[in-house]
Amino acid sequence: MIRNDRAKNEVWLQQQLDYCYQKIKSNLDVFSDLVPSAASENQIFPAEKNIDWTASFWVGQLFLAKEGTKTTDFDEVIALQIESFQKRLDQQIELETHDIGFLYILSAVADYKVNDNLKSREMAIKAADLLMTRYNDKAHIIQAWGDLNNPEQSGRMIIDCLLNLPLLYFASIETGDPKYHEAAYLHAKQTQKYIVRANATTFHTYFFDVETGAAKFGKTQQGFSDDSCWARGQAWGIYGFTLSYLYTDDVSFIDTAIRLADYFIEKLPADKVPYWDLIFSDGSGEERDSSSGAIAVCGLLELAKVLPLSNPKRSHYEAIALEIIESLAINYTTKPVPESNGLLLHGVYDKNSNKGVDECMSWGDYYYLEALIRLNQVWRSYF
Ligand code: GLY
Repeated sequence: MIRNDRAKNEVWLQQQLDYCYQKIKSNLDVFSDLVPSAASENQIFPAEKNIDWTASFWVGQLFLAKEGTKTTDFDEVIALQIESFQKRLDQQIELETHDIGFLYILSAVADYKVNDNLKSREMAIKAADLLMTRYNDKAHIIQAWGDLNNPEQSGRMIIDCLLNLPLLYFASIETGDPKYHEAAYLHAKQTQKYIVRANATTFHTYFFDVETGAAKFGKTQQGFSDDSCWARGQAWGIYGFTLSYLYTDDVSFIDTAIRLADYFIEKLPADKVPYWDLIFSDGSGEERDSSSGAIAVCGLLELAKVLPLSNPKRSHYEAIALEIIESLAINYTTKPVPESNGLLLHGVYDKNSNKGVDECMSWGDYYYLEALIRLNQVWRSYF
């Protein structure tokens, strides 16, 4: 399908993209100021207010569709969504989370990068200031979830946060103040030191003592067990460490991203779409998490770009990324379920609490589209 014939590849990729653009267009009325929920229910995303950590994945898709189609078809809804993100920040609605990064990178930062909107630049810097309040300068980590005084969440960092750090790197670049960059860099170093295990697998989350800064223990939240390797965490790590390398020039992040990528690839099943935890393989009867596959494609393509042409891993990662995206496009999209308002079937949000199991994930749809765009055109990341 893809790989051998460049012209045929372009046609094939464009067909996959057109499917996504059509689906997004057909969702514009329902999700004009509302957004899709984190996960679908029976393959349909309910519309909800802008209150969850996932609200910006819809806005991210709108920006990708705008850039990919080079039309103004998405502009009106983008404007409504940007207004909604401004209000959410001004009124601090449900922002006790490190996912301020995802939320304001795919709304405010994207709007500044794509539309040169200076108001959105200010919004992004204010969001970065709020994210900074979650940084603990003894443990050098950003607390992932909840109130800073909640003893159950205090001092807890999670691998996913690597994708939130670009908001802080952005704020340092824009303001010239190094404090955001320093916090992001130190958090990434702690992630590298404690979340990544010696065998290149990863903990989902890790606890620190916020008084002394001492590292305590790793624990899963969404993985199978404390010592297993949650597929999405590993995918966040491949992409996230590569991003931290791009912003800091610390080459040790490339080495870490390579180790994570090699483990992830080694554990891929025959059809190249991971099970929700890498402990599972074909015959396990467990669900796939298509969203981890989509995130990994973006991470592998970004990682390949930073490797020298002479490094054989570069073409290896590109080839695996193509195999994953091909498998997703052929067997995991909503094409056989026309009533679905999502793009990618067969994701898992949180198997442990039976939340969003074998459903469409809002971030899965975003990263699937990002992956296709990366393969189709020169594109500058919002992260
Ligand atoms: N960041 C939460 C998740 O990936 O489910």
